[in-house]
Order: sequence, then C-alpha cells, then structure tokens
Amino acid sequence: MKNAVVVVGTQWGDEGKGKITNYLSQKADVVVRYQGGDNAGHTIKFLGKTYALHVIPSGVFNPQIKNVLGNGVVLNPKTFLAEVKNLQAQGFSCNNLYISNRAHIIFDYHQALDGLIEEHLGVNKIGTTKKGIGPCYTDKIARQGIRVADFVSKDFEKIYRATLQIKNEQIKSYGGQMFDIDKSYQEYQIIADAIRPYVVDTVQLLNDEIKNNKKILFEGAQGALLDIDFGTYPFVTSSNPSGGGVSIGSGIGPTNIKDIIGIAKAYSTRVGSGAFPTEFDDEVAHYIRETAHEYGTTTKRPRRIGWLDGVILKYSAQINGLTGLSLMLLDVLAGLKTLKVCTAYMLDGQKITTVPARISDFERCVPLYEELPGFSEDISGIRNYDDLPVNAKKYIEFIEKLIGIEVVIVSVGPDAEQTIIRRPIM
Ligand code: GDP
Ligand code: IMO
Ligand code: MG
Repeated sequence: MKNAVVVVGTQWGDEGKGKITNYLSQKADVVVRYQGGDNAGHTIKFLGKTYALHVIPSGVFNPQIKNVLGNGVVLNPKTFLAEVKNLQAQGFSCNNLYISNRAHIIFDYHQALDGLIEEHLGVNKIGTTKKGIGPCYTDKIARQGIRVADFVSKDFEKIYRATLQIKNEQIKSYGGQMFDIDKSYQEYQIIADAIRPYVVDTVQLLNDEIKNNKKILFEGAQGALLDIDFGTYPFVTSSNPSGGGVSIGSGIGPTNIKDIIGIAKAYSTRVGSGAFPTEFDDEVAHYIRETAHEYGTTTKRPRRIGWLDGVILKYSAQINGLTGLSLMLLDVLAGLKTLKVCTAYMLDGQKITTVPARISDFERCVPLYEELPGFSEDISGIRNYDDLPVNAKKYIEFIEKLIGIEVVIVSVGPDAEQTIIRRPIM
C-alpha cells in the first residue's frame, strides 16, 4: 500500500512547509528531510510557542515519530548539535533523530568558500544563505565530499587532513584565510564523536518502515523554482527540492508515494537574487511584508514580495507531480481591495504560459494579470471552508481552475490550529 506523502515548496521557498509538515506529522510515523541543509528555515507554531528549525525535521516535537535526515541532505554537524541542544533545553528529548550514513558533511571550509565565491561574483552574486550548501554539493558531485559514514569512522583523520590541504589551496586562491589543519581536525573529531550515535543506514530504516506499512512524510526544503534543474538557474540552490528529489534523497522507490502536496503562498516571496516577474514594491508590498513578517528565518533578510504567479504554479504542478495544493497565508491578504494573479507572461511581444529556461529571457517576462476583488474580513479564526468570505473562496477557486489542482488545505495563520482541511491527507 502506498503510504508516503510529500510536502514540497512550489515557489521560491518559505511557503510554510514547516507549518504543514508539523501539522500533517500528527498522523505520521516518520518525517524525512531529503535534500538541502541549514539554508532552510522552517517555522512551526503550536500551543502559543514558535520554533525555527534549520536541519532537524519538523516532526521532532513528537517523541513517537522517527525524524530522518536522508542521504540527499547536506549536514552541518555544528548546526545540528546546536539545534538538538536548544530543543533539549525546551524539553524535547531528540531521541527520535536518525542521520543517513550516506549524507554529506558541510565543514567550515565549505562555508568559507560560499562566502568567498559570492564576494568574487560581486553584483552577479546568487545571494546564497552562505551556509556552504553550493560548495558541499559541488564536492559531492565531484566525488570529493566527506560523507557521514567517513566522518564517524576511524579513517576520518586521514581523510580530513588530506581534504583540508586541498581546500586551503582553493581558499587561498580566492584570497581567503586558510584553516589550521591540526586545530580544525581536533575540533571536528569531537563533533564526529557526538554525531555517531545518530548515524544509521536510513535507506534500510525507511524501507523497513514502508514494509511495516508505516506512514512516511517527506519534508521538502526550499522550493521548485530554486531547484538546480527546474529553477531559475543560476539563481537556485544546489539540490532538487522538487518531487523527483524525494526518491534520490531518501532511497525509497517513487512508487511508494501516494500524495504530493504543493505548499503555495497566496502571494509570492523570494530572498536572494534572481528574476521575479510579479515582484512589486509599493505600500501594498510593504503592508504584506510587515503583516506577515516576511523576513528570512535563516538570514533575516527582508523577503521580496510579488503577486501570485499562476505560470509558476502550473509549472510547479507539472514538475512536482502535485496531487493537491496547500494555500498559505491567505489571512495576510485580508483588507486588500484587489488581488492580482498572473496568468501569462509577455516575452518580446509574445504571450507565453511556460517558464523560459534562460534567466535573461525570464528577466524580460512581463506578467499579465487577472484582477479579483479582495475581502476585508479577518479570516484567522475561521476553521471551515464554507465560513470563508465569498471573495476569499472565489480567489481559491480561481487558483484551482487556473492550475488544475485542488486546494486541499487553506492556512489562515501561523499556528497549527489555524488550518482549514478540505481533504484529509495521510
Ligand atoms: P518554510 O521555510 O516553507 O517552512 O516557511 P517559513 O517558516 O520560512 O516561512 C513561513 C512564515 O509564514 C513563517 O513565519 C510561518 O510562521 C508563517 N506562516 C505559515 N503559515 C501561515 C499562515 O497561514 N498565515 C500567516 N499569517 N503566517 C503563516
Ligand atoms: P526554506 O526551506 C528561501 C535561496 C537563497 C538563494 C538561493 C541559493 O526555508 O524554504 P543557497 O544557500 O541554498 O546556496 O542559496 O536559494 N534559499 C532559500 N530561500 N527559503 C529557503 O529555504 C532557502 N534556501 C535557500 O536565498 O537565493
Ligand atoms: Mg523558510
């Protein structure tokens, strides 16, 4: 029986994946991160408290749930241990965490290189989170990475010293500060010892869970438009957040997936550089940013604001294989007179409804909008779809028709309780 459900970002990240993963995890046995690293920042709110997670899956709060960092993840062990410590201080045991022996480790040298490469790019910089994500995945593909299994093995010292020597040369070539190899090794050896108890073969763990009919929830990080293959290249992250990444990043076959729920903001946001056709920056954008507190969970940067982009969502539905949409932050739009939805782009005098591959073409896309009447009522207390204001329902139904995907969840506030379920998931 197919039991796996995937939560995936449909835009440029920060859609509310943490909130929905945590919500759906009430019925899950296992929650899995399958890609990305501590570039992610997932906010979860329940029982009046707010938590921000970067590496640990959003099911950690329930001790009955196994929380897995799959092989597709890049793990900064320092961030992981700090997050564990922080959660333990708040009363969460963290005895329910499992790290794949095949995941790659982000070291300080990756982070240093991330910063140096961005500096080198100058005005063309990607606007990364400077967490070392790109350099770590680069090493993975170049077959020069250090995996968790190596990190916790007795060979680590030899591997690390040889690797850091090469990395120091790269750092020097960018004009950066080289690392003291002895000191760095000693620091990481202590960290490796602390990581070892969490390390397992998660491919076996997950496939055993599937065999035992357990419910597995996959928690995407970033979003489809940040996907290394399908996103707005080169202004993307270095992994595959989209649906196809689940299998590669966890070792379960794609045939085990039952539902892929696309998380979509009722408008759009983006942090970092790169084209964003529906972006606007007036008093309405300012109102949205302040109302929703649109500042990065990881980097604190103000998020860029745009109208909902139907071209992007349709594309996202295709590449992710969406079976449902979860429409987030609808409450934020209350009070706006008009709601705009982009239905097509004009590119050099031609109307298109697809996402161009070249960033220079995407930069020239001018959105064509459909305007819908807004709603003025505060909807944050509503729990039944039928109780939503007529114009809010019209907005949702317009999106469903445009994208061809059912809106199965409507989120009307950051708290787990502020969720309207139209079709039960899991
Ligand atoms: P993620 O990276 O996809 O998990 O999203 P983030 O946590 O980075 O950003 C989403 C932000 O929106 C967080 O501050 C959430 O607490 C908040 N949020 C999520 N859903 C809702 C909602 O329906 N309404 C409001 N007002 N805030 C929400
Ligand atoms: P969550 O999981 C939003 C963006 C960065 C930058 C680009 C590349 O919270 O949705 P990277 O550090 O990955 O090399 O940066 O990707 N980015 C995110 N934007 N939410 C995220 O994660 C992001 N993770 C990376 O801002 O534009
Ligand atoms: Mg986020």
